[in-house]
Amino acid sequence: MKKRFGWNSAYAVTILLWLVMCYLAWNFGYEVGKASVGGELERSDRTARRQGNNYNGSKLLPQGDKAAKLEERFPRPCQRVGDGTSQIVIFNTIPKCGGRTILSLTFALKQSLKVNIKSALNFSLEGSSNVKVLGYMNRVFSNLPSPGFIYTNTRLVALQTIPSRVPVRIGLIRDPMQRLVSAFYHARFGDRMSASAVDDETWQKQLQKNHKNISESFDDCVKSKSSECLGEETKGALVKQFCGYDTVCSTASPAALLRAKENVKNHYLLVGVLEEIDDFVRVLEKLVPSVFSGGFHTLENDKRVQSVIANSRTIGVESVSEQTKGIIKKHLSLDFEFYYFIQWRFMKQKEACGY
Ligand SMILES: *[C@@H]1O[C@H](CO)[C@@H](O)[C@H](O)[C@H]1NC(C)=O
Ligand SMILES: *[C@@H]1O[C@H](CO)[C@@H](O)[C@H](O)[C@H]1NC(C)=O
Ligand SMILES: *[C@@H]1O[C@H](CO)[C@@H](O)[C@H](O)[C@H]1NC(C)=O
Repeated sequence: MKKRFGWNSAYAVTILLWLVMCYLAWNFGYEVGKASVGGELERSDRTARRQGNNYNGSKLLPQGDKAAKLEERFPRPCQRVGDGTSQIVIFNTIPKCGGRTILSLTFALKQSLKVNIKSALNFSLEGSSNVKVLGYMNRVFSNLPSPGFIYTNTRLVALQTIPSRVPVRIGLIRDPMQRLVSAFYHARFGDRMSASAVDDETWQKQLQKNHKNISESFDDCVKSKSSECLGEETKGALVKQFCGYDTVCSTASPAALLRAKENVKNHYLLVGVLEEIDDFVRVLEKLVPSVFSGGFHTLENDKRVQSVIANSRTIGVESVSEQTKGIIKKHLSLDFEFYYFIQWRFMKQKEACGY
């Protein structure tokens, strides 16, 4: 069934589904805000690189990272995909990683680009089988006219495709620790979108039901070794998302990490990092103009997009101690390795596009 969403219904569906997950949107919005207006630091880095000023990514990448070596085959040339009209972009969203900004951006661009947008969030499919998800995604994919944009939380499945309809997979991730911290505070305070969608009483009930203590900080949570911060289930969120639905992907393991990296290399046109969302959009403008042309200007200037950015920032986020950082870096080591791998690949692609 094809369904076209307006701004309001897209909002409602997105908001409600994420709320059900109790795991909403993203946070530390200040980084996003900074990135989207092209923070000074960002810009001078970019300029340095353009001028061939020996920028080698050492700021981004820990020295000697294994992931970087794996990636050296890459640098994809900065070329438009296909004929520019037949693409269907599949955007893989993960909670707290800027998905709502990208969705709102495509809605803002739809006016000029006539892209068909489909929100395909389906939380009942989490932990599902390849076959079930494949059935669902094949339906979504085959019913959407191109150029199209599919917004989905489902992991990678091999779609039935024909040459005139090309799936183009993209994704956006962020620093795994900041993602976890953001999710922690979001479960307690939400953001302005959830504040306007849910009244205080309901929110309080929700907190009680979920045993969330609003006086507890993320540092407290780590100190007390609570499963909310240090449980097995907090590990590997990024890795599992890009690994898929095979059994190897059900736990955070080196094998799942390897699979996730292979999947990115073989199936994803671009995976960006939220910290550099402005460059993510700029590169997309070059690679998939049929869906993202004018994206950077719109990201910076469109009032609705700016409002989504402002209203999806997590409320109440506190900074974490150095000790907590050390513990979480170890706890999320696989996610961090994946994140560094993505940073490196993204940097290469940005460079190929002149950013
Ligand atoms: C990158 O630059 C830094 C600082 O200029 C330098 O210490 C490092 O060795 C360089 N790394 C590579 C891989 O060239
Ligand atoms: C999620 O997928 C299942 C299985 O294909 C389907 O029955 C269900 O209607 C889907 N839910 C939504 C919200 O699309
Ligand atoms: C909530 O967290 C604070 C700070 O960690 C703690 O002092 C307090 O005892 C907690 N309250 C409950 C009901 O667990």
